[in-house]
Amino acid sequence: MGQCHIALRIDVSLEKSVVDGVEKLKKLIGKCDVLVNNAGIADTMQPSLKQNMGDFQKILDINLNGTFLMSREIAKLMIENTGGAIVNLSSIAGLGGLPRRNAYGSAKAAVIALTRSLGCEWASLGIRVNAVAPGYVDTPLIQKLADKNRIDLGKIKRRIPMGQLAKPNDIAEAIFFLASSSAQYITGTVLSVDGGWTAFSDFGDAS
Ligand SMILES: NC(=O)c1ccc[n+]([C@@H]2O[C@H](COP(=O)([O-])OP(=O)(O)OC[C@H]3O[C@@H](n4cnc5c(N)ncnc54)[C@H](O)[C@@H]3O)[C@@H](O)[C@H]2O)c1
Repeated sequence: MGQCHIALRIDVSLEKSVVDGVEKLKKLIGKCDVLVNNAGIADTMQPSLKQNMGDFQKILDINLNGTFLMSREIAKLMIENTGGAIVNLSSIAGLGGLPRRNAYGSAKAAVIALTRSLGCEWASLGIRVNAVAPGYVDTPLIQKLADKNRIDLGKIKRRIPMGQLAKPNDIAEAIFFLASSSAQYITGTVLSVDGGWTAFSDFGDAS
């Protein structure tokens, strides 16, 4: 990477990888102001009656345990300095029931609980913890699901009041806000960035 950038390879689901990675970060930079827990994988979208426990566990390991492990280790570094901000990636799947998204929905709902819990516990230490809950975003993760016919993008767009998928930048802007000093009195909260998906509860299409 260029000057002022470093890249570290960490598997967020493995405790040793996280501990070693954050230790390296500490030696190289010595501090961390912002952590964005973005790493995540999607569900296999199997009918729940056929769900394989290995797949279920892997989704929890990365989406939930990864968020916790990274937060725990980076918080230690933040406490040694002047605090910091953590932004977790939840999802509309963590706020409502999406059929066949059993593990992903469970993990993303738990990320919200973790956000609230850590936000309260670490407030006095100067660490704010918030989450964004994106709707469907136009990313490789969603494109892969559409290519495999696991989701129908036409139907999804009609279910969104704003009628289109989010662009990655829409989510980045919300993360940036929560990580910035503009959000200095905000902790333990979840910001929906979903084009109105969560607000909509009428019958039929929303757009
Ligand atoms: N794309 C969407 O529509 C959408 C909607 C709601 C929430 N989200 C969430 O936003 C986040 C980013 O999603 P995206 O669409 O950009 O996905 P993506 O697949 O493009 O990116 C996910 C990243 O996580 C990394 N990753 C996966 N397993 C990892 C591991 N064990 N250790 C470290 N890194 C790992 C991958 O290498 C990849 O870079 C995820 O947490 C996802 O659940 C996405």
